[in-house]
Amino acid sequence: MEQELFDALSELEMRDETERLRSVADHLRANILSPDSAKFISMLAVSQKAKNIVEVGSGVGYSTLWLAYAASLTGGKVITCEIDPAKAAEAQATVEKAGLASYVELLIGDARETLRHRDEPVDFLFIDADFGQYETYFDVVYKRMGVGSTVMADDVVASENELADYTTYVQNHPSLESVTLPLNNGLEFTVKTAE
Ligand SMILES: C[S@@+](CC[C@H](N)C(=O)[O-])C[C@H]1O[C@@H](n2cnc3c(N)ncnc32)[C@H](O)[C@@H]1O
Repeated sequence: MEQELFDALSELEMRDETERLRSVADHLRANILSPDSAKFISMLAVSQKAKNIVEVGSGVGYSTLWLAYAASLTGGKVITCEIDPAKAAEAQATVEKAGLASYVELLIGDARETLRHRDEPVDFLFIDADFGQYETYFDVVYKRMGVGSTVMADDVVASENELADYTTYVQNHPSLESVTLPLNNGLEFTVKTAE
């Protein structure tokens, strides 16, 4: 890993830690993905040689950095979606500071709309956004995923009740296999197994 990427990741981890200790409200703080979970999804994307990566919920760009790092190793690209223009600006600055901007396309707006107008294939989707909409984010991208494509969704353990509809949906879908990984806030690991 390049030093500028390592530094950008460390800076956001320290900021998140400080903001948590100061009890800064969720919508005001960086609110980043747990570092182990971020590293895990990145390594998974690399091991799957994922080239077309989509993220819903860029925030300030922490998980985006890990996914962009994966894309830099697979020769791929990340399309990341953020509804809050201020957060999106921070995410853009983050990927530029880390030297990974060429691997990232940032879509500003509601992912349910911004992703609806895209048509490129998707082989890795990461969802870390508004809990009530996980199924909709999934559905917008699903038709562009082939067999073997992966969806990772965060917070399925920490926010089990809020995300119960999503986990029930993917775990009972006839064209998917899905399992809950109890890593940090919980990652739902879903693979498309049939068209
Ligand atoms: C928990 S934060 C994401 C943190 C980020 N993954 C990281 O590790 O740095 C969730 C983000 O999802 C964004 N969001 C919520 N609903 C959205 C939507 N419909 N479309 C795009 N982004 C959305 C929020 O503005 C917020 O920045």
